[in-house]
Amino acid sequence: MTDFVAGMRAILAAEQDFGKAFEAARPLLSRLLAEPALARAAARWPVCNRENWLLFEDPDYGFVLDGLVKAPGQKTSIHDHGPIWVLYGLLSGGEDICHFERSDGGHGEGPARIAETGRSTVAPGVLDLVAPYTIHSEEAGAKGSVAVILRSARPDRVATGRFDADSGYWRESPGIRQVPMHLL
Ligand SMILES: [Fe+2]
Repeated sequence: MTDFVAGMRAILAAEQDFGKAFEAARPLLSRLLAEPALARAAARWPVCNRENWLLFEDPDYGFVLDGLVKAPGQKTSIHDHGPIWVLYGLLSGGEDICHFERSDGGHGEGPARIAETGRSTVAPGVLDLVAPYTIHSEEAGAKGSVAVILRSARPDRVATGRFDADSGYWRESPGIRQVPMHLL
């Protein structure tokens, strides 16, 4: 984790565009995911409901590292991350990442039509760079999943978009609650 944070800070010192910085951060996150001590720590993390386990928050650059544990078959809503960039890495288990578009041409809150545009089954070690306002969902497989997520800012301080399948409405709501989790 120390190496990851130092590497991330060096990248952001030279590149202020989070999209480019997170693209450059792929090898760092891959190395972190391959670290056996991280897998041992993650084995103690409880399943998340609407929160993420906050593993690290950088005091200067604002990026955070979150842990997200899903039970077998657990699904997220169809959502975006608002203005935040995300580099999502699967640590263990498996899941499908589904991609969507708003087919009604609208944006923001209100009635929405959502169309699935693709689905990929991801295995441990796979990274997914998620641009701001990209609409997606995640569905854990039979073994559940653990993800480690690099975010450009705390997600609990910005609005996130969610599709309410019952009402067919797109809604803005407070972002994901951050619960500190010590790694050791
Ligand atoms: Fe997401």
